[in-house]
Amino acid sequence: MRTFIIRARKGTTRWERIRSTVGAREHFEVVAHSVINAFFVSNGFRDDVEVYIILDSSEDFPRTLKLSGGKGLSIAGFHEEAVLALVEKALKDSHGLQKDETRTLAPGLQISGFGFEKLVSSLLETRPIYLLDRKGEDIRTTELGSNPVFVLSDHLAMPPKSVKGLKRRGLKMISLGRKMLFASQCVVLLNYELDRVEF
Ligand SMILES: C[S@@+](CC[C@H](N)C(=O)[O-])C[C@H]1O[C@@H](n2cnc3c(N)ncnc32)[C@H](O)[C@@H]1O
Repeated sequence: MRTFIIRARKGTTRWERIRSTVGAREHFEVVAHSVINAFFVSNGFRDDVEVYIILDSSEDFPRTLKLSGGKGLSIAGFHEEAVLALVEKALKDSHGLQKDETRTLAPGLQISGFGFEKLVSSLLETRPIYLLDRKGEDIRTTELGSNPVFVLSDHLAMPPKSVKGLKRRGLKMISLGRKMLFASQCVVLLNYELDRVEF
């Protein structure tokens, strides 16, 4: 299993706003492209992948969507629109979700009423988690633990307070080179690096 956490700092929790945040300052396309690159390969779908999308921009509390390739997740295509429709519907269908509540909305699709800190704390109990950072240790010299979890931000930097907290908990920072890449490009490279050692 490989897991990607995409922290969308400007990701809205209002379903009716999702589409207007594509190509705008919120750059929700970053999330859509990351999801597509996480799951889709030519003529195939990776069922050993999970993606958590954290929507931080909320009037009450953040939402975390969990997409599980191995649990029957259905995305209508490998285009932006398909991911937008999935997120939009998940937010619409989870109307009234309470803080800390988790609902399964469809096979392979869950939504929770919590955000980044709580998600990381719960995953840390069983999984090795890596923070993607240009200045981290080169992924090729890092021995990754099994079933790794990779944390990425969207077009905005991870808040320094979160980075500090992650370091305090012993999370390793790993790098994919000195160039600042899009989160979606990091997802491609991470899948590639794992494929290289797994196949
Ligand atoms: C577009 S970047 C964020 C840019 C933001 N302005 C900043 O200064 O962090 C999105 C995320 O991709 C990851 N990332 C980008 N380039 C990377 C690299 N060369 N190595 C490791 N992670 C990288 C980081 O997690 C980063 O937060």
